[in-house]
Amino acid sequence: MSTNQQRVAMITGGNSGIGFATANKLAAKGFIVILASRNQQASAQAIARIQAVNPNANVESIPLDLSSFASVRQCASAFQAKGTPLHILINNAGGSVPGKQASFTVDGFEMTFGTNHLGHFLLTNLLLDDLKQSASAQVITVSSELHNPDYAKGPVPDFDYDNLKGEKYYNPQVFYRNSKLANMWFAYELQRRLTGTGVTSNAVCPGFVPAAIAARRNSPIEKFFYAQIMARMPFARSLEQSSASYLIAAADPAFEGVGGKFIVDGKEKASSKDSYDEEKAQRLWELSWEWCGLI
Ligand SMILES: NC(=O)c1ccc[n+]([C@@H]2O[C@H](COP(=O)([O-])OP(=O)(O)OC[C@H]3O[C@@H](n4cnc5c(N)ncnc54)[C@H](OP(=O)(O)O)[C@@H]3O)[C@@H](O)[C@H]2O)c1
Repeated sequence: MSTNQQRVAMITGGNSGIGFATANKLAAKGFIVILASRNQQASAQAIARIQAVNPNANVESIPLDLSSFASVRQCASAFQAKGTPLHILINNAGGSVPGKQASFTVDGFEMTFGTNHLGHFLLTNLLLDDLKQSASAQVITVSSELHNPDYAKGPVPDFDYDNLKGEKYYNPQVFYRNSKLANMWFAYELQRRLTGTGVTSNAVCPGFVPAAIAARRNSPIEKFFYAQIMARMPFARSLEQSSASYLIAAADPAFEGVGGKFIVDGKEKASSKDSYDEEKAQRLWELSWEWCGLI
């Protein structure tokens, strides 16, 4: 393995929230960090903020809109044109799309599923040879404990291929939880397919991070509620804690060579029963492959 000085990490959604906190930590550890983001102006600001603290930080950005297969392909090509290795890929970007109506990606998939799962599925597969050639290497996919029906109150995941585009109903919480279950199936199936390559695949949950949620809210009351009230709850995690947990999954010797795990608070944790269903994971993989035009 090369030293940290030469190691390269790409993170999606690294301009804000947990992704930004993680990019900052990776840069401080001497990684060459690539922010893959849909807002290059925000990336320039993020890079400036990182370099203000650490003038030697080696951070750059590449355009990526996960809701467009063409953009994902352009991002992979732009990365490959640099001719650098890739040691860590953190599939972090995403979230849920609020509202009563489903919205859709450029390619016609429901936005939350298309962005959180399909965009990352395509990006990872396009970069897989780079990761293999750079091994040892890690793919970290950010899921959430909300993929687990037993984890929290509220509507449970309902992964239904006949309702993937909201044909029967749309509920943003259900679709978010479904996308995070898809992230689990993807991370575990990827690990099975990577056996013996020196590349590992794990899923992480950053925990409940009110600071990241507050930053997205427009209403001052909601901002206050998340930043000042929820952030003080014992079950809340700070940006510092959640990004430290990503770093453990991505770069701690404890997880070197370890794949197929769900990592929460820097420790392995059991995920939902459904997430371990290999047939379901394989079915999603094969369909995603086709939908992403990888055949
Ligand atoms: N915060 C929590 O409590 C919590 C809990 C469990 C899991 N998570 C997961 O943690 C990850 C990071 O979330 P966060 O809380 O840090 O939220 P965040 O600050 O909203 O970060 C999400 C990032 O994803 C980017 N993004 C969204 N859609 C994109 C697209 N189509 N193409 C490219 N980038 C896109 C956003 O970019 P823009 O700035 O351009 O919008 C943003 O940088 C997400 O996967 C989330 O589901 C968060």
